[in-house]
Amino acid sequence: MLKRVMLWGLGITFSLLGSTAVWAEKTAAFAMPDEYSAKVTKQVLLAGGNAVDAAVAAGFVLAVTYPEAGNIGGGGFMTLFHAKDHNSTAKPLFLDYREKAPQAAFKTLYLDKENNVIPYRSLVGYQASGVPGTVMGLWLAHQRFGSLPWSELLVPAIDYARNGFVVSKQLAQTAVWYQKWIADKSKDPLNFSHYFSALKEGKSFKQPELAKTLQRIAKEGGEEFYRGETARLLVKEMQRHNGLITLDDLHQYQAVWREAVIGEWKGRQIISAPPPSSGGVAIIQLLKMKALLQGELDEALQKGKQDGLSEQVIKTHFYAELEKRVYADRAFYLGDPDFVKVPVKQLISDDYLKQRVQSVLMDEISDFEQIQYGKFETPETTHFSIMDAQGNAVSNTYTLNMPFGSGVVVSGAGFLMNNEMDDFSTKPGVANIFGVVGGKANEIAPEKRMLSSMSPTIVLKDGAVEMVVGTPGGSTIITSVFQTIVNVVEEGMTAQQAVNATRVHHQLLPKDLITYNPELPEETKEALQLMGYQLKKNNYMGDVQLIVQQRGQVSAASDVRGRGVSEVFLSKD
Ligand code: DON
Repeated sequence: MLKRVMLWGLGITFSLLGSTAVWAEKTAAFAMPDEYSAKVTKQVLLAGGNAVDAAVAAGFVLAVTYPEAGNIGGGGFMTLFHAKDHNSTAKPLFLDYREKAPQAAFKTLYLDKENNVIPYRSLVGYQASGVPGTVMGLWLAHQRFGSLPWSELLVPAIDYARNGFVVSKQLAQTAVWYQKWIADKSKDPLNFSHYFSALKEGKSFKQPELAKTLQRIAKEGGEEFYRGETARLLVKEMQRHNGLITLDDLHQYQAVWREAVIGEWKGRQIISAPPPSSGGVAIIQLLKMKALLQGELDEALQKGKQDGLSEQVIKTHFYAELEKRVYADRAFYLGDPDFVKVPVKQLISDDYLKQRVQSVLMDEISDFEQIQYGKFETPETTHFSIMDAQGNAVSNTYTLNMPFGSGVVVSGAGFLMNNEMDDFSTKPGVANIFGVVGGKANEIAPEKRMLSSMSPTIVLKDGAVEMVVGTPGGSTIITSVFQTIVNVVEEGMTAQQAVNATRVHHQLLPKDLITYNPELPEETKEALQLMGYQLKKNNYMGDVQLIVQQRGQVSAASDVRGRGVSEVFLSKD
């Protein structure tokens, strides 16, 4: 029987082919990075859509209302725990829709004749973009699992683009910062300000060209972006400014279903992002190494009590010790698995990690050779977590890399292009914008995917979803997800406490530097400085979106650091 459910305030209805049976009400939840994506997610779930339907609708809405990071000109990863329909059992899946290097890219693309990195070339302007993957990713996810019509899921995004949305303080401030930041960094004039200088706090912001682009994608499907008018406009923009992406690049682009990386930890399964992300491997390494050294940590905490050292000091140092090993592995081994062999199984094996933790020092800093490093900048990506009433879950992180990506808007199509090429190792040992280095495994090659830290993660316990978690934050994504999982499972925090808690981060380089957010107590800082650490507040350390299901109770929380909205509510089973 045909059901028509009102999805959108404008009177647009969904046609749902469903049974007449009365649906039981069951708990659904989301943690979304802004109010608009939250509203749309709830509407889709209440209209009988599943977690993937909600993710598709929210993914397109964020491309409009969260233009710093929500996108159709970027890429990302989706970790799923999903059943095709009500009667089959859900299973872990992973969709890689990361950008790829254009065919014209080559190893020394961003080096000058003297072999020095050309500043900002991989970050700003027409040569900084990888071939976008977002539309293909959302399209493939919908084709496999979607239950509501694609064209109708795009209606809310089209509406916000055409009729406007109210700009938040955070978005307005980031836009001002970004315009100043790009002002002198591109050799070609950029059109960012032409499109986005009207982002003013509290004012409505409309994007008519983007509305038309979304309308074409809604009508013609995901392929439109790669073969239709949108593709034509994108390539025209590139050709006008010596950009790299060609029509053939767009034709060749494919999103890929990959095996998620799965680690067993404390009676749970940690399901997370495999290469070309470093996130899943790194998070599983951190959790397992911590478990292997739990006895030593307990002893150190006991001893700390006697010596007057706080738990925070001991744990921060302990995490730094684990993290420097993990980031060293990342720099050496991790890259696109279609180009380099990444020893994932070995890297997360108990044998390897037992050997790796042997050199961890509980009360002093273990030494590492100094390598050249970069600086931290304001990063921007966005993550959302959704669980529907059937227990399907989507953990999705996608990005333009930096806020607003490369600063290039595709004229006539109204969307921003990514600057993901900076995630490649532009030169061995030279750090990217997030201060992380790489070597051969992550060097540039045509059609290769650049290494990522994005870590959309799902934790399963007894075959059901216990946690859906992820965050933006560049290289700090890994340590934020790690600490959030530990906060829930080991520290017994509520979802909100777990995402708000202080996070600390160490990534091997800069040497002995620990960053943190929010402010650490003075005594903690002094004690860590005495050990030899340098400390720096990172004004931005992620925006975790978390759902927790424990002992039959569901809770959801959005990070205080962002403008997210989360909710648990009754929906139709
Ligand atoms: O893929 C990566 O690891 C980065 N491009 C992510 C960038 C990011 O998280 C910026 N965010 N806040």
